Amino acid sequence: MRTIIEPFRIKSVEPLTYTSREEREGYLEAAGYNLFLIEARHILIDLLTDSGTSAMSTEQWAAVMRGDESYAGSESFFRLRRVAEALTGFRHIIPTHQGRAAERILFTVLTKPGHVVPSNTHFDTTRANIEFTGARAVDLPIPEAADTQARLDFKGNMDAAALEALIAREGAAKIPLVMLTITNNSGGGQPVSMANIEAVKRVASRHGIPLYLDACRFAENAWFIREREAGYVDWTPKQIAQKMFSLADGCTFSAKKDAFANIGGFLCTNDDRLAQQETNLLILTEGFPTYGGLAGRDLDAIAVGLEEILHPDYLRYRIASTGYLGRHIADRGVPIVEPPGGHAIYIDAARMLPHIPAHQFPGQALAVELYRHAGIRSVEIGSVMFGAAARHELLRLAIPRRVYTQSHIDYVVEAVLEVNARKRDIRGLEIAEEPPFLRHFSARFRPL
Ligand code: F0G
Repeated sequence: MRTIIEPFRIKSVEPLTYTSREEREGYLEAAGYNLFLIEARHILIDLLTDSGTSAMSTEQWAAVMRGDESYAGSESFFRLRRVAEALTGFRHIIPTHQGRAAERILFTVLTKPGHVVPSNTHFDTTRANIEFTGARAVDLPIPEAADTQARLDFKGNMDAAALEALIAREGAAKIPLVMLTITNNSGGGQPVSMANIEAVKRVASRHGIPLYLDACRFAENAWFIREREAGYVDWTPKQIAQKMFSLADGCTFSAKKDAFANIGGFLCTNDDRLAQQETNLLILTEGFPTYGGLAGRDLDAIAVGLEEILHPDYLRYRIASTGYLGRHIADRGVPIVEPPGGHAIYIDAARMLPHIPAHQFPGQALAVELYRHAGIRSVEIGSVMFGAAARHELLRLAIPRRVYTQSHIDYVVEAVLEVNARKRDIRGLEIAEEPPFLRHFSARFRPL
């Protein structure tokens, strides 16, 4: 059989609510044309993010009931630690309430003004947490990643030669760690090859610099390696993930992505002294080291999710279904970041709407139009989010895990193609009000 089906059946359902075009027009106006400010009950299909929006399995819900809510020494923590240790091999597993909490603790301990932290591409919370300590976050993607249309197997890779040059320029003493984001979210959800992780590790080790993984989507990355990189086709996703982690000295992780959890994360290291400092900070803001800002039931849900996510049937379906959305719109003329990534499809809004200049926010204009037309929520990743630093004007359609079926995705395909057919009528926007930072969350717009 060639048909790829959802490898699950549905036991509990959440009704969707339809709205009329007139209603959506009113909601848009009231929200200042910012989809973050629209109430979720007015959204039909929500592709804002794949983070914390996944569906938990029956086994995860059962684990929730097993959660041990003891303040200290909870059995839930030990269950999570056993699974996370077996997967990552790291000696210290420090739970946090989500990924950015792990980032904040890591950078508070490791970075200071004058430091530089290179990555293939930093996610925005990672960048913000680095910059908050006075250090500089530097992106070193491979040059080919600049072309949204280039179809490379591992377009999320870091430019290892550029890393070598950066270390030569800045001096290793100023670089407390090198990071690799797998998969590369800001770079289109593109994977990083094992060969690239090994190459970056070699460069970093030669200079005595630790390598960290931002491992949010480690399982999707492992599947791409199995499918695309020579030598891994007989490996299980778990074996590939174990090898990826074995090349790193530590990791940050948001369990809201590749652990099917609605909340949670952790920070890992093999360095005992560092772990002690991190744990001290954890107690200050997150909580005791055996719960780290989470309920015992959350720790148990993550423990089960970390194993489920590596199931080959799930990963095959996951990557195929993201590709299905990508191919069905791209092969009918909608420019996307090629090839389709793991967790999302990114429409190249600058290329699709060449009549809207960057300062009139083509990605945002497209997000607004897709909501107006079909009740679909997506997110701009371009000049609204990054200001003048934006390299592309993208619209991200992020796919929550195990939530939407193929017919939902067919509806999204139809909506995107209909919007594309009359794209010349889409107008840009101007900013009416904006906060001093992270403006995409709360800025208000006016249509032009
Ligand atoms: N790193 C990456 C690569 C991410 O994609 C995210 C979150 C984080 C770190 C932070 O994790 O949200 O648990 O604090 N990405 C979400 C997104 C928000 O929509 O892509 P968090």
